[in-house]
Formats: sequence, structure tokens, C-alpha cells
Amino acid sequence: MEQAMVDRDTLTRMLELARWAPSGDNTQPWRFEIVDEGLVLIHGFDTRDQVVYDFEGHASQIAHGALLETLRIAASGLGCATSWRLRPESSDRQPVFELHVSRAPGGAADPLFPYIERRVVQRRPMRTTPLTPEQRRALAAAAGESHEVRFFESFAERVTVARLLWDNAYIRLTCPEAFEVHREVIEWGARYSTDRIPEQAVGVDPLTARLMRWVMQSWGRVDFFNKYLMGTVAPRIQLDVLPALGCAAHLFVVARRPPSSMLDYVEAGIAMQRVWLTAHALGLHLQPEMTPVIFKWYATASRSLSVKPGIDDRVRLLSGRLAALLGNDAASGLVVMCRVGSSAPPASRSTRKALADLMTNRSGTELR
Ligand SMILES: Cc1cc2nc3c(=O)[nH]c(=O)nc-3n(C[C@H](O)[C@H](O)[C@H](O)COP(=O)(O)O)c2cc1C
Repeated sequence: MEQAMVDRDTLTRMLELARWAPSGDNTQPWRFEIVDEGLVLIHGFDTRDQVVYDFEGHASQIAHGALLETLRIAASGLGCATSWRLRPESSDRQPVFELHVSRAPGGAADPLFPYIERRVVQRRPMRTTPLTPEQRRALAAAAGESHEVRFFESFAERVTVARLLWDNAYIRLTCPEAFEVHREVIEWGARYSTDRIPEQAVGVDPLTARLMRWVMQSWGRVDFFNKYLMGTVAPRIQLDVLPALGCAAHLFVVARRPPSSMLDYVEAGIAMQRVWLTAHALGLHLQPEMTPVIFKWYATASRSLSVKPGIDDRVRLLSGRLAALLGNDAASGLVVMCRVGSSAPPASRSTRKALADLMTNRSGTELR
């Protein structure tokens, strides 16, 4: 029997909702093309050539997974079903996903549907109220069969993660490659940002934000400040240590089979988005803590992160500490690190590009 077509209004509503999927630094590395009433193309791209954090495009691929899962959940709430496949001829750098959409009369909405728009990153300290066994079970189940969730919850475990993030942040704040990214992605003075991270959602107090804004006008200032004025201390305390202690738990999402292909990272993104939406369904907030994971990818591949002397050694040491914490096997499958806890919703957040700006009928190099 031929599947019932979906009208364009419904497809548009589905895409409007799916725009709220998370992406690293709110890059939204996707463009949409409605081909006909049953087929939408997702033109993905990555930022590996511009963004040091997008190691081999994996951060973008995780975002693509989050988007595909959000599309599935959005469709379910609109009485539709989706299935997707990667166009075989598409490249890792510019994957094209075919999303087949059909009517699913009588199909139930996914219970995560109400949280698509409410999900938001919380970068500030949260309450330390421990997770209940049900919350722990639901978060672990949300990652699916192919991913395991390890919880670091006790005060001592949170201190261990805080120390790791303290050293990790030193790398992040003192390498010129990361500075280039930070300079581009923060929208200064803003509470909302359609295509970046607004200053007020970064997670520092207003005074530190003003100082950061001034210092970050040039690498020379940053370097001087770091070297002679302990410039990394205030941001590391506010962005790493206090949030690392101020949460219910850190979650390490580990692929049961270490990821090797682009689609493995897409699968990781599906798991991440399900965990994130489930956290909201449980009344919790979440913040990804991805840079240690990404730096570990550099170390494992013996790839240099920075031209600055000493940084690559620090990256290797950090990667070794992660392996010691999780065990070698789990560390090789580590795809997502995040923290969860309850808190009031953040007063500032990233919004999204308008759907019209995310629509395309083109592919390839013209995307961005
Ligand atoms: C692959 C990936 C990596 C991310 N890494 C971090 C991170 O290390 N730290 C952080 O605070 N947020 C991280 N985020 C969250 C994004 O910055 C955030 O989702 C985006 O800016 C949109 O904001 P929203 O989630 O509040 O809608 C990450 C998101 C994704 C999908």
C-alpha cells in the first residue's frame, strides 16, 4: 500500500521544531531541502577547517545525530513517522541524509516531544541534590543499547572531574587555536543569539565578562594576561570548577563499540540528544563538557592540537588521566561527557536561525 503523503505545512512545522536541536557553539551545521511531500534532504557540513574543537568533524556529526533524533521525535508529535539514510555518494565532510517522512495515523507522540523546545544548555552551577535511582535508570536507558552511561556523583568523584576540567581549561584558554574560536562564537552584550552563544549564557559574572571582552580583542592581550596576571584563574573557577562541583552528577557516555566511522558519531549524537531531552523530562538541566573528550581524540590520533609549545604534552597527559579514570576500554569508546542537576532555567540562551535561512535547494560548497 502506498504511504500517505505529508503536507508541506506539517513538514515545515517539523523542521521549525527540529531547528532547536543542539550543536557545538550553536553552529547549526545543516541546511534543509524539501524535495517532495515524502522526502526532506538534510545537507550536513562540518567546521573542522575553522574550529579546533570540531576534530575530524566529529562534533558536527554528533550534532547531525541530535538533529536526526529531534526530527524523528518532532514528526511523532505531528502524527508522522520518519526514517533516514545517508546518501551513499555523500562525503564525510558534507553528508546528505535522506529523511523519509510518512503519515502515521494513530501513532503515539514520543514522550520526549514536549521537551524539544524547552531543552537548553545550563552552564551555571546547579543543585547538588543526588539523582534518584529512577532518574539514574532513565538517563542510562535513554542512551540506548549501543551506549553505556557511567555516573560520577559523589563529592569525591565531582572533585576528581573538577580537577580534570581545571587542567583541561588551561589548555582551552591558553592555546591560540581555541582563542580564534572563542572570539568568533561569543555574541558580546547579548542575552539571546541566533547563531552564536550570547555573552550572558557563557556562565561568568558580568565583571569577568567585561574583562574577557576587553582582553579577547587580541591574542597578545590574552597571552599577556594569562602569563603575568593569572588570567585563566577567574574563568576556570567560574566556568569549570564551580559548575563541576555544582551538579548532581557527571555522565560519561561510552559507545560499547569504539566509534570508527562517521555514522558512529551520528549514533552518539542520537544518544546524546535522548539523554539531554530525558534529563529535561526528569526536571533536570544538562551541560555538555565536550572539550576533554575532543582533546582525547587528538591525543589518540597523535594529532597536534596547537602550534604552541607544551600544549600537546598537556593534551596527552589529560587523555591519560581520562583513561585512568574510566579504564582504557571505556575511554576508547567515550563520545560524550556532560553534567546534570536541577536548577532554574537559564535567563539567557542561544536561539536559532530562521527556518528560511536554513532552507536550501543547493548542496556542497555553497552551504554555510
Ligand atoms: C557536539 C556538541 C558539543 C558541545 N559542547 C559543549 C561544551 O563543551 N560546553 C558547553 O557549555 N556546551 C556545549 N555544547 C552545547 C552547545 O553550545 C549548545 O547546544 C548550543 O550553543 C545551543 O544552545 P542550546 O543548547 O541552549 O539551545 C555542545 C553541543 C553539542 C551538540
